[in-house]
Amino acid sequence: MSRSDTSLCMPAEIEPFHAIGVSVLAHELKGRGASIIHMEFGQPSTPAPKAAIAAAHHVLDTDPMGYWESAPLTARIARHYAETYGVEVQPRQIIMTCGASAALVLALAANFEAGARIAMARPGYVAYRNTVAALHMTPVEIACGHNERFQLTARALAELEPAPAGVIVASPANPTGTILPAEELAAIARVCRERNIRIISDEIYHGLSYAGATHSMLEFEPTALIVNSFSKYYSMAPWRLGWLVAPEADRPRCRAFVGNLLLTAPSLAQHAALAAMDATPELEANVEVYRRNRERLLAALPALGLKEIAPPDGAFYIWADVGHMTGDSLTFCKDLLRATGVATAPGVDFDPVEGRHFICISFAASTAQVEEAIARMIPWFADQRARQPA
Ligand SMILES: Cc1ncc(COP(=O)(O)O)c(C=O)c1O
Repeated sequence: MSRSDTSLCMPAEIEPFHAIGVSVLAHELKGRGASIIHMEFGQPSTPAPKAAIAAAHHVLDTDPMGYWESAPLTARIARHYAETYGVEVQPRQIIMTCGASAALVLALAANFEAGARIAMARPGYVAYRNTVAALHMTPVEIACGHNERFQLTARALAELEPAPAGVIVASPANPTGTILPAEELAAIARVCRERNIRIISDEIYHGLSYAGATHSMLEFEPTALIVNSFSKYYSMAPWRLGWLVAPEADRPRCRAFVGNLLLTAPSLAQHAALAAMDATPELEANVEVYRRNRERLLAALPALGLKEIAPPDGAFYIWADVGHMTGDSLTFCKDLLRATGVATAPGVDFDPVEGRHFICISFAASTAQVEEAIARMIPWFADQRARQPA
């Protein structure tokens, strides 16, 4: 057996999600009486829409339920694509999954071979790199710095040799919140067509935008695989419901795979999600909470001594360079947590190369918690700066 044959038989090396370690420590400290503010994950502090909860109560009381994919829900999501982006998607192309996490596994596993090279931005969401590796594909990280607003560019994709089999695009992105403008999405789609690169577009933060409309990759490339979820804008992360939009040609393969992977997505969550999609006033009020939180944090950046940040156009994250205070973001996050009770995510989760100089601060908490976190962090950050050699 050759060396490469052997490696295909071995389990892939999967890096832990270090923010989970920070979160576990936060819960331990809370158990010992500490006052903790969770800013390590992008978990909405706003509740699921009232209509979603009412629908779930009603179903629990009246329907024994079973394995099921909701035809009304897939039809409603298809309508959402027509109304929001002006693109036509058939309900049969919408495949319900357990969150965007499972939609990402489905998009990759059903459409790429083991060994496929999948490009992605670095920094980027931790699960892109780790899921690609777990599926025995090869993550190809493209370093994206401040000048590119930490986002992929069509130019970087055009210059990548050899051309990858696929690319994961995320706009708004985690951990930066940056949004790709329509022209760049169109240019990326063009390069991918020319170079035969399949696009997976993670649109989980659509709806959470503070800088104008977000565009779906489907507006520029009808064969893109679209990943989305009820976890963020719809404020239903624990309901574990997401979807994949599969192009017609890939639909039978994706459907065959999802049946084996999940049977179906959770029935209860699908009933609730259908109601959530029409809870627009409540959902838009949630966006205002996050807009306010973002403003509070941006206003506090000088007092925190944080200059180098990406513009958080959307989502609920600030990707902050703390290189003037530490070269070890994981220790920095744990020290910050122990001293102040504020839990943040270490940059190493999102960028294995430069991430030791960065932290990710989520502002998905309540506004009162964000204000309290700022008040706690300002003196601690000042102390860290004062400790650095002149
Ligand atoms: C960019 C991105 N994609 C996908 C996910 C997975 O979300 P879920 O499985 O809750 O839908 C997350 C979660 O934070 C994320 O930030």
